[in-house]
Amino acid sequence: MKITFVGSGYVGLVSGIMMSHLGHFVTCLDIDKDKIDKLKNLEPTIFEDSLEYYLNQYGNTKRLNFICGYNESIYESDAIFIAVGTPQKDDGNADLHYIFEAVISSVKYVNPNCVFVIKSTVPPGTCKKIQELLLQNGFNNQVVSNPEFLREGSAVHDFLNPDRIILGSESNTALEIIKKIYKPLSDKRVLILETDLITAELIKYVSNSFLACKIAFINEMADLCEVIGADINKLSNGVGLDKRIGSDFLKAGPGFGGSCFPKDILALQYLTNNLKSDSLILDSVIKANANRPRLIIKKIKKFLGNKIQGKKFAILGLTYKAGTDDLRNSPVIELINLLWENDVEIRAYDPQGMAKSAKYFDNKLVCGTSAFEVCIGADAVIIATEWPEFINIDYQKLKLQLNSPNIIDLRNCLDRKMLSKLGYKCYFIGQKSGNMVHSE
Ligand code: UGA
Repeated sequence: MKITFVGSGYVGLVSGIMMSHLGHFVTCLDIDKDKIDKLKNLEPTIFEDSLEYYLNQYGNTKRLNFICGYNESIYESDAIFIAVGTPQKDDGNADLHYIFEAVISSVKYVNPNCVFVIKSTVPPGTCKKIQELLLQNGFNNQVVSNPEFLREGSAVHDFLNPDRIILGSESNTALEIIKKIYKPLSDKRVLILETDLITAELIKYVSNSFLACKIAFINEMADLCEVIGADINKLSNGVGLDKRIGSDFLKAGPGFGGSCFPKDILALQYLTNNLKSDSLILDSVIKANANRPRLIIKKIKKFLGNKIQGKKFAILGLTYKAGTDDLRNSPVIELINLLWENDVEIRAYDPQGMAKSAKYFDNKLVCGTSAFEVCIGADAVIIATEWPEFINIDYQKLKLQLNSPNIIDLRNCLDRKMLSKLGYKCYFIGQKSGNMVHSE
């Protein structure tokens, strides 16, 4: 089938490229000329595992092409997938003007049967507004809500192996067209759940908020483990083995970040409050996550004997998680700013995140060329992101380069026994050796 993706950012690009892999004829449209030029040269504009392979396989063939701006070449599209950004406004609500612009700009060039599929995360009620907007402008095209559940770092895998596909619609004809597009996946037994528009939109917010809730909860339990003398890794495993709970998203750490969880939970809180409904749980999750970096700094201070002024820190990892070059809402940003308030020296390294890091630290952050290099002379090494490369460091060799063999593993990804044997003094989140500090 013929599909156009409007917006070749994270969601649009991955989904567009992978739709061509499913056998469709895809056009990825963006108004950013630089982006489109790069894609035409088969250069990926985002860092994402396996994406370059698929881009090279289908890019500039009949199956996948890139265009800058709207034109009649999209006329024959069976569906227009809208995948533009919905940034957060100051009040926590989502800014929808890019979506409305994208719909109105593209509808002028498509045929009357073309279905508008809203992939961007939008507050419940938005698809209805889009449907009304189309009607007001004299177009009868139908709207389907199809939220995305791709994770950065494993988006290609997630696209091909979704837990479910959500399709919200008020039109059976439109629904049938979109189901045909997803047929290669539903043939492989991927479940398609059909709902009305507003429920589909809400499923996305509730999914992200619930996962954020799980993380905030397990982080609180990690703090309890430190006081009570239990082990958070074993605890998560033991709890997660209960199928009703599930083992995913039970890893304790420095708090959730990224471009989705923090934004979506705030948008859901805004929506809830606006409707005069209670948001007690959402409020707590937001508060707990916001408090996390400050609490972690207290833990670090206590671990290092409360004297950190003048000390040298090596920070390994800047991105909000491994597998991405994205620093948006990375908890590491606040951790570094809070450390700086204590007059410490920081050198940092991230395998993918350094190119984008300057703007988050006013060009103040000193980055090195390797994990090993930034650790030389350090009083403490902080593992802030769980990159596999940090697990594979030669810690025996590294110890000889450190001023003091202190390791603070905020992701519980290193081998504690090995490090202890080598003579390191270690701090792990939610484990017996941790020096607990109560949150205020
Ligand atoms: C998230 C959702 O997982 C996707 O389903 C959704 O499509 C996407 O948002 C979106 O709305 O676009 P993403 O932000 O890429 O995906 O990253 P996650 O893997 O979900 O991680 C989010 C944050 O939670 C990261 O900071 C991560 O370190 C943290 N996390 C995750 C934990 O602290 N513990 C865990 O057990 C899991």
